[in-house]
Amino acid sequence: TPRVFSGIQPSGGLTLGNYLGAIKRFVSMQEEDYETVFCMVDLHAITAKFLDPKTLAHNTRELAAGFIASGIDPAKSILINQSQVPEHAQLAWIFNCVARMGWMGRMTQWKDKAGKNAEAASLGLFAYPALMAADILIYHATHVPVGDDQKQHLELTRDIAAKFNHDYGVDFFPITEPVIEGAATRVMSLRDGSKKMSKSDPSDASRINMTDDADAIAKKIRKAKTDPDALPSEVAGLEGRPDARNLVNIYAALNEQSVEEVLRDVGGQQFGTFKPALAELAVSKLAPISTEMARLMAEPDEIDRILKKGSEQAREITAPILKKTYEIVGMVG
Ligand code: TYM
Repeated sequence: TPRVFSGIQPSGGLTLGNYLGAIKRFVSMQEEDYETVFCMVDLHAITAKFLDPKTLAHNTRELAAGFIASGIDPAKSILINQSQVPEHAQLAWIFNCVARMGWMGRMTQWKDKAGKNAEAASLGLFAYPALMAADILIYHATHVPVGDDQKQHLELTRDIAAKFNHDYGVDFFPITEPVIEGAATRVMSLRDGSKKMSKSDPSDASRINMTDDADAIAKKIRKAKTDPDALPSEVAGLEGRPDARNLVNIYAALNEQSVEEVLRDVGGQQFGTFKPALAELAVSKLAPISTEMARLMAEPDEIDRILKKGSEQAREITAPILKKTYEIVGMVG
């Protein structure tokens, strides 16, 4: 069976962007004919800025709770924390020696995150995409569900696999397929339709957090930036209206409809009518998840037990692939 791998950073709380762009698809792939591995990438979470240890540990458990509350079933999927499966970091070293500085320097996320002061960025931030390639390829995963912002990293993953295979004259690492599908592959900020919704945005009003309660969700949607026009009944009418487009995309993804279908129903409505409907839909879908997350967070030992079992299952896959990689490279002993 083809294998799915994907990961999320425990660098902050989960957002609606993570849920609609990634987790919702993880859950559906878990129910399809795939073997599924989902990961909290704590090694990645320390690349950008210093995270105090308590926060990292809290975020990791909360993210695990978010996965489970959203429908990831530890009996059907392998759920792990990256640092606990050491083969990820071990393969990443090999890939650090396969990937070229030039490739890494062209990554837009590196350029965005390092900003003007690349000298002050961590070495880990630069090498980030090689570790991501290792996350995927240490499972020989073939399908990687992600949001649109990870597309370039997945192309690099293919380049790394191809160069390794070519340099060593093997056909060992698969060329992975990105799975970037649905109405919400790029959820935008509620305050600025030209910016991605992000856990690192300083404005909490810009995002819906998966831990927000019903009042907070409704309030953020009510205050979301829009334009004065009514909603169009066709997609073309959303052109040049990024804030409107974003709210319609969110509605479509939450309600599992296409944007066309949504507009057929809501075309002609003012935002004064549409926003309360969107808020009601969002609360009905998200409140049960945040309630379940809170329940799970009250039992951190149970979360740790699930992750420990996940690591054991994962290492049955990763240890032989690392061993074979070392053999290919000529590492003996
Ligand atoms: P991260 O933690 O930034 O985001 C996790 C997932 O959520 C998606 N996402 C979004 N989708 C739609 N709209 C948004 N506003 C939005 N914000 C985030 C991301 O595309 C991603 O799918 N590098 C990865 C983590 C990673 C990984 C991997 C992913 C590490 N190793 C291996 C796949 C495979 C990241 O930073 O995701």
